[in-house]
Amino acid sequence: MKIKTAIFSGSSTRVEQKPARRLPEFAFIGRSNVGKSSLINAITGNSKLAKTSQTPGKTQLVNHFLINDNWYLVDLPGYGYARLPDKDRAKLRHIIWDYINRSEELVMLFVLLDSRHDMQEVDLRFIAELGEKGIPFGLVFTKADKQGPTVTAAQVEKNKARLLEDWEDLPPVFVTSSVSGLGKEELVNYIGTVLQTL
Ligand code: GTP
Ligand code: MG
Repeated sequence: MKIKTAIFSGSSTRVEQKPARRLPEFAFIGRSNVGKSSLINAITGNSKLAKTSQTPGKTQLVNHFLINDNWYLVDLPGYGYARLPDKDRAKLRHIIWDYINRSEELVMLFVLLDSRHDMQEVDLRFIAELGEKGIPFGLVFTKADKQGPTVTAAQVEKNKARLLEDWEDLPPVFVTSSVSGLGKEELVNYIGTVLQTL
């Protein structure tokens, strides 16, 4: 699948406020600063589409981007940003789960994980919650350009092994870099094949 057009379509804190068109939605979630907004910009080829920042906690709303006039890519706020006051973290959590639990058009989530690190407790808890709720998801390792391919591969394998302690099967896994463009095509093509099954 080729992404021909990508248009910002609105921000929301509650499902009632999301864009009115009912189209399939694919959402990016993950810890603050993992690279959700950057990956949206990389796959759409528009570096200014989603706002990014070196400081965690940049995305505070649910942002819809209309792709090819027939589906939405959704940028979600990050979870588990330790330095936010409890009240603000709870607010973001509420926004995230209101969307995940109540958006009828959500097809699947992509959980982004930093390819340099072990998954953290907050990632494992979030993934477990998706499992309990039966929400389809894939895993996307980010920032693969930050180290050599061998190091990335080893870290990805380590994280897969950790997941297999809790899960019988692995979800689809992608290794990406918003800087080099690695994995972009695989991810977009995968979304394309899922769209064809709907
Ligand atoms: P929140 O909105 O705060 O939850 O963060 P986010 O997950 O949307 O992260 P964002 O895309 O804003 O990126 C965070 C930082 O990581 C920025 O400084 C990006 O430039 C950097 N970054 C994101 N993706 C990559 C990548 O693939 N490679 C490298 N080297 N840096 C990246
Ligand atoms: Mg963001």
